[in-house]
Amino acid sequence: MSSNTDIKIFCPATVANVNCGFDALGFALEGIGDEMVFRKTKTLGVTITKITGDTLPMEAHNNVAGVAGNALLEAVGADFGVEMEIHKKIRSGSGIGSSSASAAGAVFGINQLLDTPVSNLELTRLSMKGEALASGNEHADNVAPCIYGGTTLVTGYDPFKVIALPPMDTVYVGILHPHIQIKTKEAREILPEKVPMKDAIAHSQHLASFVASLYEWDKALFADSLKDVLVTPYRKQLIPHFDTIETISKKNGCIAFGISGSGPSMFCLAFSKDNIDSYLSESIDLYKDNGLEVDGYSSKISSEGCRVIE
Ligand code: HSE
Repeated sequence: MSSNTDIKIFCPATVANVNCGFDALGFALEGIGDEMVFRKTKTLGVTITKITGDTLPMEAHNNVAGVAGNALLEAVGADFGVEMEIHKKIRSGSGIGSSSASAAGAVFGINQLLDTPVSNLELTRLSMKGEALASGNEHADNVAPCIYGGTTLVTGYDPFKVIALPPMDTVYVGILHPHIQIKTKEAREILPEKVPMKDAIAHSQHLASFVASLYEWDKALFADSLKDVLVTPYRKQLIPHFDTIETISKKNGCIAFGISGSGPSMFCLAFSKDNIDSYLSESIDLYKDNGLEVDGYSSKISSEGCRVIE
């Protein structure tokens, strides 16, 4: 039997890695995200009652939202279950945190139904269980900003810790999504087990510079820090015209460009929306001229993560 206490939430799309923070950095996007509905039931566990916008498994144990939701219900020893509707707006395999939005949304929504809600850190830790079903690995760089909003840094997995970084209020984001699918699992498998010491040093310099630039809001250091020597060199072959799009981003005055999560979406950052708009327009034309479907949109970084909307 269902209670009549429906809760509807919005869970934002996110950009993970942000070039200099593989499996560590991420930020939430404005205006694009999924919706989910939750209601208490007497039947224990998660029951998925409806999915729109995508073809995904209805069985909870095969669905990232179901797995994450059950992890929370079990962790708190809930004496009730939850019916869940998932309304996907973020395309699967697009690289802007589709599975993470489902996993983070599931725990966030169920948390609203608990008498004693758990912390954002615990929600993030539990939502990684759902993320692992999709990607084969527990990482929190998408789920953390989806829960916390803004820009987050996962400082460690054991013990697990997340820091909310200072806002990047004056930064505009462009997302370009060529319509090919890249599976995160496969994009992780092509990465090398070991990296050269010089790359490890450069990587730690970039991430440290990024964090320092946010606390001091040093725009030059910020722009200089957003580089990736660890992952992009191996993954960019998966994305058609990647190098040309990077050149277009520079030509249009963008300060950073890279793969969003495991791709195929690419993110770019600029201090002016005009730069983002002209970059997107030129890049979309390039893909269309080459017979590839693509979409693009501009956003700011959302200070809010998952939220109740009804
Ligand atoms: N850090 C992850 C990766 C994000 O790039 O593989 C995608 O889940």
